[in-house]
Amino acid sequence: MLNQEVYDKVVSEFAAKFGSKPQVVAYAPGRIEVLGNHTDYNEGYVFSAAIDKGTFFAVSPADDDTVTLVALDMGETYATTLGAVAPIKSGMTWANYPLGTFNWLFGGKPAEAGKGFKAVFGGNIPLGAGLSSSAALEMAAALALQKVYGTSFDRTELAKIGQKAEHTFAGCPCGLLDQASSMYGQSGALVKSDFRTNEFEAVPMGDGVAFMMVKSNAKHALVDGAYASRRQACEDAAKHFAAVLRKGGVTHLRDVTMAEWVLYRGGLSETTAKRAVHPIGEDERVLQGAALLSKGDLKGFGALMYDSHESSRNWFENSCEELDAIVDAAKAIPEVYGARLSGGGFGGSCCLLVDPAAADKIAAAIAREYKAKFGDEPTCSLIKPSEGAHLI
Ligand code: GLA
Repeated sequence: MLNQEVYDKVVSEFAAKFGSKPQVVAYAPGRIEVLGNHTDYNEGYVFSAAIDKGTFFAVSPADDDTVTLVALDMGETYATTLGAVAPIKSGMTWANYPLGTFNWLFGGKPAEAGKGFKAVFGGNIPLGAGLSSSAALEMAAALALQKVYGTSFDRTELAKIGQKAEHTFAGCPCGLLDQASSMYGQSGALVKSDFRTNEFEAVPMGDGVAFMMVKSNAKHALVDGAYASRRQACEDAAKHFAAVLRKGGVTHLRDVTMAEWVLYRGGLSETTAKRAVHPIGEDERVLQGAALLSKGDLKGFGALMYDSHESSRNWFENSCEELDAIVDAAKAIPEVYGARLSGGGFGGSCCLLVDPAAADKIAAAIAREYKAKFGDEPTCSLIKPSEGAHLI
C-alpha cells in the first residue's frame, strides 16, 4: 500500500472509531542498515537509511484517564488507564511500543500526563523483515504524543525514549540505531551515525545506485535471547580490553583496534573473542566506507558490505542459511556491488547495493537460486533512502 493510502485509511478509521478527526498525525519510516552491524551499543559507527515505508500514528487527547490504542494492521484494540500503564507480557504485545513510548515521555510516571489519549495507527512496513517496524511505531507515537502533550524533547531524546520502551516494555536490549535512523533519515541520503557522540550526518548517494532489500522467509526474532547474548559478549570483551590495554579510556569495543584484538584476544574465551572482532571490524569498515563513498567508489563500498556479511557469518554467527544463500547468489551478479544481512540478523533481510537499471534481472536471479535451495521465493524490493519522521 502507498503511504498516502495508509494515511487515508488511518485517518478515516480514526473518525469512524472516535467520531472526530485526529488532532495530530505523525509519520515515521522503517530503516535499512547498510554497513556497521551490532556497532550501535558498542558506541561505534553505522551507515543506514530511512526507507520509503512507515507507520502513521493519529491521536487526540481523551476527556478522562483512558488510553485507547487501535492497531489497524492487527485489527485489535488495547485499552487501559493512566494508572495501569505497564508492560504487556502476553496477548496484545504490540501495544508495548506506543505504551512504553508514552510511559517514558513522562519519565515513567504516565499519571503526570493528566489525561489519556486515543490513537489509531497503521503502516506498510513488512513485519519480521528486519526493517524496524517497531521503531517506526515508537517514533511516530513519540512525535504525535509530544505534540499533543506539549513536551519538548529533541529528536535524539525521542529516539532514546523509544529505545527505553524497547528495553523495558518489549524486552529487547537494542541499541539506538533503529530509532535514530527513523528520526534522522533524509531523502536520497545515507545516515552516518556515531553512537558515542550521537551525531547523525546525511551522506548523499549518487543517482546511479539503489538498495534492494531481499526478505528471506527465515523468521527474525530479536527477543529470543540471541541478540541479548551477543550484546553481553561484547560488553564482557570490552571489560577485558579495559583491564589489559594500558592506553586507558576503554569503555566499549569502539575503543579497541583490530591490532589490539589480535594481541590480547588470548585472555578471552574462543566464543567471546569471535563476537568481539565483529563490531571492531565493522567500525573500521564504516570509516573506510565513508572515505570510499566520498570518492564515488561504489564497488569498493560494496566489497566492504560483502566483508561485513562474512564477519557476521563466521565471527558473530548472526546469519543463517537463507541469508547466506542470498549473499552468495548476489556475488555472482555483476550489477550487484555488495550485499550483507541488515539489522539484528538470525533471519530477516539482506541489503544489496545495486544498479537500479538491472533490478528485475537481479531479483529474478536471486529468486531462482533461493528457490532451488529452499523451495520458496524471497521478496525483493527496491528501496529509496527517504526522509525521516515528521508531523503531517
Ligand atoms: C537491531 C537493533 C539495533 C542494532 C541492529 C544491529 O536492529 O535494534 O539496535 O543493534 O540490530 O546492528
